[in-house]
Amino acid sequence: MTIPRASRRGLDSMAVGPALWLGPLLLVSLWGSSAPASLLRRLSEHIQRFQESSVLSLSLDPAVASLPKEGWLEQPLDPFNASDRRSFLQRYWVNDQHWTSQDGPVFLHLGGEGSLGPGSVMRGHPAALAPALGALVIGLEHRFYGLSIPAGGLNMAQLRFLSSRHALADVVSARLALSRLLNVSASSPWVCFGGSYAGSLAAWARLKFPHLLFAAVASSAPVLAVLDFSAYNEVVSRSLTSAAIGGSPEVGVGQSRGALVGGAVQYDRQAGAPLSVRRLCGFLLEGRGNGSRPGPYRGLRRAVQVVIHSLGQRCLSFSRAETLAQLRVTEPQVSGVGDRQWLYQTCTEFGFYVTCEDPGCPFSRLPALPSQLELCEQVFGLSPSSIGQAVAQTNSYYGGQTPGTTQVLFVNGDADPWHVLSVTQALGPSVSAILIPSASHCLDMAPERPSDSPSLLLGRQSIFQQLQTWLKLAKSRV
Ligand SMILES: *[C@@H]1O[C@H](CO)[C@@H](O)[C@H](O)[C@H]1NC(C)=O
Ligand SMILES: *[C@@H]1O[C@H](CO)[C@@H](O)[C@H](O)[C@H]1NC(C)=O
Ligand SMILES: *[C@@H]1O[C@H](CO)[C@@H](O)[C@H](O)[C@H]1NC(C)=O
Repeated sequence: MTIPRASRRGLDSMAVGPALWLGPLLLVSLWGSSAPASLLRRLSEHIQRFQESSVLSLSLDPAVASLPKEGWLEQPLDPFNASDRRSFLQRYWVNDQHWTSQDGPVFLHLGGEGSLGPGSVMRGHPAALAPALGALVIGLEHRFYGLSIPAGGLNMAQLRFLSSRHALADVVSARLALSRLLNVSASSPWVCFGGSYAGSLAAWARLKFPHLLFAAVASSAPVLAVLDFSAYNEVVSRSLTSAAIGGSPEVGVGQSRGALVGGAVQYDRQAGAPLSVRRLCGFLLEGRGNGSRPGPYRGLRRAVQVVIHSLGQRCLSFSRAETLAQLRVTEPQVSGVGDRQWLYQTCTEFGFYVTCEDPGCPFSRLPALPSQLELCEQVFGLSPSSIGQAVAQTNSYYGGQTPGTTQVLFVNGDADPWHVLSVTQALGPSVSAILIPSASHCLDMAPERPSDSPSLLLGRQSIFQQLQTWLKLAKSRV
């Protein structure tokens, strides 16, 4: 096992993707130190397997009538060019256990930058809301991720058809096709759900297609695209020193060099995540002044060992060339995480590059923005100036943190580094926001656990109440 050194260049700072709970959880932010795609991939596969296995054990329960059904929709590869007849198969999941009436609501759980499994319609939000509200739950995998990758793979000619706008076009045609296929009443309200990037998609689907989608719940949705996401580290260091989530003001983050730290904060206390903030800080403090090495180094090494051990690995080694080679592979990867595809979306739409150049940033020696942008050039041949333009275009197309939409609920946790790019205050009466104290990325969507904090329970209760209000409104309009 090697603890990667912070001084490596460029590529190591691979874009930190937001991730979807129950999708591939990128335990990201090994920035600064080597951020090897292979470690991220293994971590997210691990967490996904963990979560899927809980779904399987659920299915052995005789009280659960049926497994969710898997289906495939034929979708146009280029929805914006009617003379292009090529198509691809998009995967979806259906849970109709709680759908008691054809004019009941439909909860459409959108996938993000990874594969979307059966758990998306069985556990956590929105599935947990379905019994009380009589909803049909549908999960829709994002194009170019998981098993919904078009034939022809991930070369540049194909990746032209990967963007949030293409994904929204898929949502619309899936909404229309599935209504027919599942015999959903025309009066049924469709509510979009999503977490992280998919949370943005949920909000944007309502923004762009309000006649088809009645409302949206957007969890941890970074609706503001930014090239230089230096604020990520400000939240990470604040969370690490927050006693409320088990952090400590005594933690020597300045020496911890970022490895694993961001991941621990982003996915604090989530099922299957190997390391919580409390545990990480425990390691960092335990090692202080004990032996010849500086304490935080020893503690950090133990933290890394815990993560590696939970992956069933003995050691991992990476090189810049190896990671670059992996990102250049254009064959679809069977595994859950779409590193190449998500990097492409950051290069062409969102940026989100985590940097630490501000003198106030607590982590030492993270790569500067230019070396991060270099990755887009090395992998896709995209120029740095094109990325800045793309980010600006994304914000003008969707409206950034003031999307002119209605009936959207934004949910965030204030310990999550991504909440600073989301909407955390109500934008008028019909766009509301919940900011849950001490909650991490997409925690509101996770299945209930005995350890859930009162504020998390309260947050989930508010989501439920908002849905009740919306569904009443939908009924009154029929
Ligand atoms: C639309 O599709 C047709 C048929 O594949 C192709 O010849 C044409 O170049 C496409 N137009 C655009 C703008 O991509
Ligand atoms: C579809 O739903 C309607 C009621 O909304 C019902 O009358 C009809 O039989 C259903 N069709 C199928 C094929 O289930
Ligand atoms: C010193 O390290 C040992 C294990 O290496 C640990 O058991 C002990 O608690 C540590 N002591 C302090 C004061 O942190």
